[in-house]
Amino acid sequence: MAVNTTKTPPFSALQVMQDAPVIPVIVLNDVAHAVPMARALVAGGIRMLEVTLRTSQALACIEAIAKEVPEAIVGAGTVRNAADAKAAANAGAKFAVSPGYTPSVGQACHDEGLSLLPGVATGSEIMMAQEDGYTELKFFPAMQAGGPAMLKAWGGPFFDVRFCPTGGVTAQNASEFLSLSNVACVGGSWLVPAEALAKGDWARIEKLAREACQLKLR
Ligand code: 3PG
Repeated sequence: MAVNTTKTPPFSALQVMQDAPVIPVIVLNDVAHAVPMARALVAGGIRMLEVTLRTSQALACIEAIAKEVPEAIVGAGTVRNAADAKAAANAGAKFAVSPGYTPSVGQACHDEGLSLLPGVATGSEIMMAQEDGYTELKFFPAMQAGGPAMLKAWGGPFFDVRFCPTGGVTAQNASEFLSLSNVACVGGSWLVPAEALAKGDWARIEKLAREACQLKLR
């Protein structure tokens, strides 16, 4: 399918991937948490923030971060259809991440001016995303779908693809992924623990972000 770009994304998918070693995958249930959490991540060195569209407050949280934390670059995760992409862009998201890939999600993100990291877990999905022009992909769910060994195997036929493995990636195993030549960054929820949000423990989130920034790409 040929996709038509109607707006230019402010950041390319590669820029989204290369800003820091980790893209935090964020679940927010309370809009009051959004701004202090984003400020804590930015203070720790992480600017690209993936706020997942899995709570009723997610869009309001994206909007609050986009308006009040200009140092952050907020994106939407869990973008599953064209309506999600449109809502995310309207809320101020600057990029999108999807758990899988469909041409309609790809087209909607192009139309809305959002770079997209499409999720893939099989060779056929990689080939479909590549047919639509995507060479920077999310490998999801990374640990469950084969982990670092899968990425090494894909490095042969899909030598021109860079991945952001997400799903089961932790502070402990992130380096194993980041040492691979076809990995540009990892994604993970460990930077923003639910209990830190509940307690308003922004210092902990800042520390987790700072530690994540110390992770080294090969
Ligand atoms: C998700 O979409 O839930 C992400 O892949 C996060 O997975 P994690 O909680 O294992 O980091």
